[in-house]
Amino acid sequence: MAKQKQIFFCKECGYETSKWTGQCPGCREWNTMVESPKAGSAGKRAYAKRPGIGPAKPSKITEVAADTEDRFGTGTGEFDRVLGGGVVKGSLTLVGGDPGIGKSTLLLQMCRNMTERGLNILYVSGEESLKQIKMRADRIGKFNDRLFLLSETCLDVVEDIITDPENVFDIVVIDSIQTVYKEDVDAAPGSVSQVRECTSAILGIAKQMGISVFIVGHVTKEGVVAGPRVLEHMVDTVLYFEGDNIAAYRMLRAVKNRFGSTNEIGVFEMKNTGLSEVLNPSEYMLQGKPENEAGSIVTCTLEGTRPIMLEVQALVCQTGFNYPRRTAVGIDFNRVTLLMAIIEKRMGIHMSDYDAYVNIAGGLKVNEPSLDLAIVAAVLSSYRGRALDDRMFIFGEVGLVGEVRAAPMAQRRINEAAKMGYTSCIIPKANEEMLEDKPIKCYGIKNIRELAELI
Ligand code: TYD
Ligand code: MG
Repeated sequence: MAKQKQIFFCKECGYETSKWTGQCPGCREWNTMVESPKAGSAGKRAYAKRPGIGPAKPSKITEVAADTEDRFGTGTGEFDRVLGGGVVKGSLTLVGGDPGIGKSTLLLQMCRNMTERGLNILYVSGEESLKQIKMRADRIGKFNDRLFLLSETCLDVVEDIITDPENVFDIVVIDSIQTVYKEDVDAAPGSVSQVRECTSAILGIAKQMGISVFIVGHVTKEGVVAGPRVLEHMVDTVLYFEGDNIAAYRMLRAVKNRFGSTNEIGVFEMKNTGLSEVLNPSEYMLQGKPENEAGSIVTCTLEGTRPIMLEVQALVCQTGFNYPRRTAVGIDFNRVTLLMAIIEKRMGIHMSDYDAYVNIAGGLKVNEPSLDLAIVAAVLSSYRGRALDDRMFIFGEVGLVGEVRAAPMAQRRINEAAKMGYTSCIIPKANEEMLEDKPIKCYGIKNIRELAELI
């Protein structure tokens, strides 16, 4: 047998070389080159073994029948929304997220709902024993006998079970891709080549047999699903499950979706009986908001295309140090210091004599410039010790000369606020002029000095 050629490739850009280098010659990133013992074989694969993607004959685009995909509802509205209306038959979905965020719980709950609708599901866990899965399942609720559990890390065994004509599964869950391995790949589970080969094997089965597969993937420190980016290219849908360790809410976000939009998010809350849907995230985020307190401002942010009302809090007090303190929670620190500088310069308020603490209540992390105006308002409100009208909300971006710039999708934000019972808003003048419908009273402003007059 000819000696297999060693190939190294870059995790970031996919650049291939025959020698390992510390810096990728392609994208100039450091420490991204990894070994791929089988990379050379991928291109030479026999045609017969190619996963069934379609006939080898080119077809005219006008002759290709585009039937609507077969979809199964997951039994959870929020999950369906993120998937674009349910699980597509034969699709491969990657669910990424930090360890302990609730990926296994989310998928187990999905399994429960879908088995109740008569689908057969195989749940393969390489991380937990059957007992552990059962213990989690008991917290979630009652299951029927259409759900099959398998505690296995060897993917070849899993493949045999799935392809066995005696077993007919509609859905397979692999929890997680970092724990499974293929015997003929000479690398440790979780290594780049294992993850790559395993995913490609699963992809073949999913497409050939029309089974929808969910793969769980852990996220590394840098925020990418561990393993090469190729993993994200191979699958049809990439979902990220994220949230705060302290707060109970969790957000499911589509990063890539071949069957739907990536603008949708699903909001869940982790309870002691599993995850429950948060149907009205605005209400959830505004829970416990103080009334008539200085330094508390309601704003509206967008997660994808979904408006979510939030409370921005600021505490401004005289500093006891030479150098004022600034703290930002849930929002970019540099943005807050920048806004402080704008207030100082454009409004003539001596912010450098004051400490300022800014917080997004509820544990959500936002980095949308349209929150600027609300932050400025919260700081001013706390500085002056004056509360704003409780039924008023504020959004808009603030520029360096203190100008208030338009925010995207203003109408959506206003409609959401109106639905939540808000009666007035301070918004950028440019947005006010473009509004088609004003369900609430709108004060359009051009400059933050006008904001000071309104407060
Ligand atoms: P898990 O689904 O195991 O996370 P992942 O698969 O992403 O690593 O969820 C683990 C956390 O969720 C764990 O810290 C306990 C918590 N949890 C609850 O709070 N309530 C529940 O009903 C369940 C099943 C888990
Ligand atoms: Mg898990």
